[in-house]
Amino acid sequence: MRTTVGIIGAGPAGLLLARLLHNAGIDSVVLESRDRAYVERRQRAGILEQGTVDVLREAGAGERMDREGLRHDGIELRFDRRRHRVDFPALTGGRSVMVYAQTEVCKDLIALRIEEGGPLLFETEALAVEGADTDRPRVRFRREGVEDVLECDYVVGCDGFWGVARSAVPDGRTFERTYPFSWLGILADVAPSHDELVYARHDRGFALLSMRSPSVSRLYLQVPADTDADDWSDERIWDELERRFETDDDWTLRRGPVTQKSVTPMRSYVHEPMRHGRLFLAGDAAHIVPPTGAKGLNLAVGDVVTFARALAHRTATGSDDLLDAYSATCLRRVWQAERFSYDMTTLLHTAPDATPFEDRLQLARLDRIASSRAAETDLAEAYTGFPIG
Ligand code: APR
Ligand code: PHB
Repeated sequence: MRTTVGIIGAGPAGLLLARLLHNAGIDSVVLESRDRAYVERRQRAGILEQGTVDVLREAGAGERMDREGLRHDGIELRFDRRRHRVDFPALTGGRSVMVYAQTEVCKDLIALRIEEGGPLLFETEALAVEGADTDRPRVRFRREGVEDVLECDYVVGCDGFWGVARSAVPDGRTFERTYPFSWLGILADVAPSHDELVYARHDRGFALLSMRSPSVSRLYLQVPADTDADDWSDERIWDELERRFETDDDWTLRRGPVTQKSVTPMRSYVHEPMRHGRLFLAGDAAHIVPPTGAKGLNLAVGDVVTFARALAHRTATGSDDLLDAYSATCLRRVWQAERFSYDMTTLLHTAPDATPFEDRLQLARLDRIASSRAAETDLAEAYTGFPIG
């Protein structure tokens, strides 16, 4: 098998990259270890920055998003029984975000790939990337029990945090932080209790109210890192959510049947550089952010747009300049998202070893955002997203 760009992984990064390359007239093959149903069902944060929305539209992948996605012009911060709304358009010159589930982004991109007839091989596991420092890199893979080789001009590792591509970048450096807590997330068949996302800081821990549609709520609770989701009955989850979202007004939390429950660990991670020879890393394969602020998908989009532009530039001009700048270009934006996600995480979660002094500082930081337009603008700019490239 031979192609111009071998793409490992059919998460949002790999799928969008295949679409962008197709639109630029560049052929690719996507290898995905899981089956289609698994990829289409995996629950992840679903907040699309303004820039991500624009990219999906330009790629011809925004039709259903524009019909079914929910435009959000703000979020609510909840602390000390108070509520503070951050108004994105007012603070950023008109920017907003879109609530559209990552499962739906993946479904739309898979459907487009099939429609355009591009190779997308599910249940095909990449085993190794070889010859990254030659001009004929290869992906060794296994499909239906048989090993084979995909010969490429370029390989892009979009295979997530647990993939194989990163190990083919020698002499890399990693920067990492784990957190002493996780998120217990539920999907519930009930209309969201608020029309915007609510990020709550409470002495008992963080809570988040999000949504998947006008009739499906997505809610999270901060829990200790080693938590087993089965230890949390539905009633216990609702009771705890209710306490952490408490306010001085008459706001109430709507309860409904829980249809999914899982625990997500929290990690910050960056691998530098994001390139070795003709192997490029994109998305979770190169970096992880904790989900507070929902930057993961948006970073993946920035990476693959940067790669697709760089390769189209090379095809048009013969110049490697943009490909050579790929890692530095992506990492600048990645570190801004790392900073923001870390800030949001430490702003809103209660660390098990936090001192009363640190608790007060958290409240002071929140109060500062609620009372200073400058501080609030900083949050709004980061939440709605930094420019790509
Ligand atoms: N061979 C083939 N496919 C693989 C391999 C392998 N050896 N290892 C992993 N994969 C696949 C996974 O099954 C997964 O479908 O690569 C894909 C990686 O997708 P994601 O984990 O979704 O990562 P990415 O596309 O970078 O998306 C960015 O943003 O919100 C965050 O983590 C969240 O998915 C999200 C991410
Ligand atoms: C989600 O809806 O899953 C979600 C939203 C916002 C976040 C994280 C997760 O910050």
